[in-house]
Amino acid sequence: MSKRRNAVALILSSYFFSGVGLHDAAFAQPSVGLREYIDTFDGYSFRYPQNWIPVRGAGADIFFRDPYVLDENISVELSSPSSSRYKSVEDLGPPQEAGERVLKQYLTEFMSTRLGVKRESNILSTSSRVADDGRIYYQVEVNIKSYASNNELAVMPQDRVVSLEWDRRYLSVLGVENNRLYELRLQTPENVFLEEENDLRQVMDSFRVNKALG
Ligand SMILES: *[C@@H]1O[C@H](CO)[C@@H](O)[C@H](O)[C@H]1NC(C)=O
Repeated sequence: MSKRRNAVALILSSYFFSGVGLHDAAFAQPSVGLREYIDTFDGYSFRYPQNWIPVRGAGADIFFRDPYVLDENISVELSSPSSSRYKSVEDLGPPQEAGERVLKQYLTEFMSTRLGVKRESNILSTSSRVADDGRIYYQVEVNIKSYASNNELAVMPQDRVVSLEWDRRYLSVLGVENNRLYELRLQTPENVFLEEENDLRQVMDSFRVNKALG
């Protein structure tokens, strides 16, 4: 574990957003700048908003969350080296097929055992691009809404009030290197996504997989 941690280099270079002009300031969310995270041991890097906080023990390889919006976060997961033999992200099939697989994974993870919870999900887009490193990356964008009934045991149907619990945007960028599948995942409330879309898209676009030193 400590070897691992030592190999993880945090590069404290900041990138400032140039996409948002000052004249738009009244409407735009103030941008905080991005910081680069590089994991040379596992072989990946991405930029994240520099005021976000690392969360330990969240189950992912690395996990950062927004300091104010508690359900806005970003994480990286990798397939285990022993069990995976990926050659390219195209091993997942075309982007649409990868999208369905990602959505299925989300829905399994967020499965609720509470009575009266219903989920509504939509794949908003799936795409493929060749980044500046020459590798192919897939991006999957999904909206999931969760509805809960406050009184599922009510005898009369009209006494069951169904309300929206949460409405979230999930973005995954998938890449393959070192025979492993890498996923950068963003989870954020839908309304927050719409406010911060410019910045969050830069974060997702910055994801790269690299030859691992580990
Ligand atoms: C990350 O965000 C999701 C929803 O957007 C939330 O359910 C989850 O609890 C958050 N995780 C952490 C560790 O903050």
